[in-house]
Amino acid sequence: MDKEKIIKNYNDYVIPSYRKQNLIFVKGQGSYLWDIDGKKYLDFFPGWAVSGLGHCPPLVVERIKEQVELLIHLSNNYYHPWQAILAEKLSKLSFDGKVFFCNSGAEANEAAIKLTRLYGRKKGRYKIISMENSFHGRTLATVTMTGQKKYNEMFEPLPEGFIYAKFNDFHDLISKIDSKVAGIILELIQGEGGVNVVDQDYLKKVKDLCEKQDLLLIFDEVQTGFGRTGEFFAYQLFKIEPDIMTLAKTIGGGFPMGAMIAKREIADLMGPGTHASTFGGSPLACACCLGVIETIEKENLLVNVKNMGEYLKKKLEELKEEFKSIKRIKGIGLMLAFELEKDGNQLVDICSKNGLLINCTHTNVIRIMPAINVKKEEIDQAVEILKKSLREAEI
Ligand SMILES: Cc1ncc(COP(=O)(O)O)c(C=O)c1O
Repeated sequence: MDKEKIIKNYNDYVIPSYRKQNLIFVKGQGSYLWDIDGKKYLDFFPGWAVSGLGHCPPLVVERIKEQVELLIHLSNNYYHPWQAILAEKLSKLSFDGKVFFCNSGAEANEAAIKLTRLYGRKKGRYKIISMENSFHGRTLATVTMTGQKKYNEMFEPLPEGFIYAKFNDFHDLISKIDSKVAGIILELIQGEGGVNVVDQDYLKKVKDLCEKQDLLLIFDEVQTGFGRTGEFFAYQLFKIEPDIMTLAKTIGGGFPMGAMIAKREIADLMGPGTHASTFGGSPLACACCLGVIETIEKENLLVNVKNMGEYLKKKLEELKEEFKSIKRIKGIGLMLAFELEKDGNQLVDICSKNGLLINCTHTNVIRIMPAINVKKEEIDQAVEILKKSLREAEI
């Protein structure tokens, strides 16, 4: 198929819900993607953090090949070894909870909403407080929980029971609590909301409040989980444990997967008949995730994130000195961004023309989230392209 035909087919047959850049990719390996003409791109926003180990990570590819010949899918009415091994592994890596497997971040958050409502039921509680500028998914409940009108107001009337508080503002949070509130959800680093890091003091107060008022504390680690910040899960950086944590993106190394981990005391509320996912936790998905975890551990990738994150941040600080249009550098580990004075979409287009893929969120925040196994030379190459592109963009 030639380029025109591919794009024509999209226009003719694919529902146009995505804003697209005019790029057609056919191959990926590590931090690189190749387009249909054979041009090589450095991908510093691989699959919106799904390809967190880079494209086609070798161990995940190997596991897919092995597993696909053994057993691809199995109904959740039966047992299989891979889900058993993986659930134990995830529990031991985090807070000794129990796991529900699904296929995406939105589904993981849906599960968290349902579990929170099951927990609140006895006391007549059902509301969840989420944060302004948060992002939790696109299903009707999770897009309602997402504290950004631009994503949900067109779907009104929205489901009941979601309230928004200002991020990092404890007084505002307190003012939103009433007797019907069952839980509080937040991202420790808001991704889509502009790479905003939670304050340690605020988080501690939120945790204490939840304990005092018997509210569930939910961390959406869909973007921050799986090594992105230099710890396996971002909450480990802040040393504050949630009651529920949701995961997706990097978890499957490119294969669709999601998970919700809940503390033992509440997890069993989700008994038979309360929730399900036909595809969730399939042998193939679990084999991929086991491959991701093994890669992170064997290749010491948490250390790589700390080192490369520091290095990239330093390089971005240097760019900020040179380009006055860069107002500030944000983020932790390899979840980094710089804020521009102006709209950043033009810069994203110029960077991709120059062979670097990045992302612009919140109009002026340039998000840079390379694979967690990124190499120093790749960072140097990306920074050179950024420099050249900033000059071309004249911003
Ligand atoms: C923090 C966060 N939660 C949830 C989601 C939704 O995940 P998915 O697109 O897999 O449903 C996203 C997606 O970007 C996200 O960043």
